[in-house]
Amino acid sequence: MTRLDTVIERLMAQRSCLNAAASALRDVPGHILELGLGNGRTYDHIRTLFPDRDIYVFDREVASHPDCRPDAAHLFLGSMAETLVTAADQLGPDAVLIHADIGFGDAAATERNVATLGPKMLTLVRSGGLVLCDQSLERFEGLTPEPLPPDVETGRYHVYRRA
Ligand SMILES: C[S@@+](CC[C@H](N)C(=O)[O-])C[C@H]1O[C@@H](n2cnc3c(N)ncnc32)[C@H](O)[C@@H]1O
Repeated sequence: MTRLDTVIERLMAQRSCLNAAASALRDVPGHILELGLGNGRTYDHIRTLFPDRDIYVFDREVASHPDCRPDAAHLFLGSMAETLVTAADQLGPDAVLIHADIGFGDAAATERNVATLGPKMLTLVRSGGLVLCDQSLERFEGLTPEPLPPDVETGRYHVYRRA
């Protein structure tokens, strides 16, 4: 598998998991957290899937396409190690969906990021809510793995339900 194949598979898995989450949560009210704005691809997809929800977005900087930028009231700018704590104070444990795309090219840096952010994410999602992540969050108590959409290979993306 080439690196191009890997990227394409990851993006298709991301889209399938987001689409499945939108179906599962259609009748479940609550706001959404997008961890990792990046260039705004998944933010754009999420706001299309959930047009009536508040979507709060986290990143250390805004570097997205100009058409894919949240307004200031929905943006938590800075290190997520800090902004997730601020958000927990402001929003409470009420998110119905967290999508976290928080990996880097560097495996060790990704591992440190997951170890730091994983427990903080858990304080933001309500019982029964979904957490979708590009990284495994299996080690964190309180998250139960959910079946993946049929077109997503095991390990390609990760979906959990908050106990
Ligand atoms: C893989 S990109 C996200 C791509 C995005 N989902 C998209 O579809 O365009 C990851 C983003 O998360 C941000 N990020 C990762 N860890 C972070 C942290 N600990 N604090 C703040 N931002 C972080 C990076 O700055 C980067 O923009």
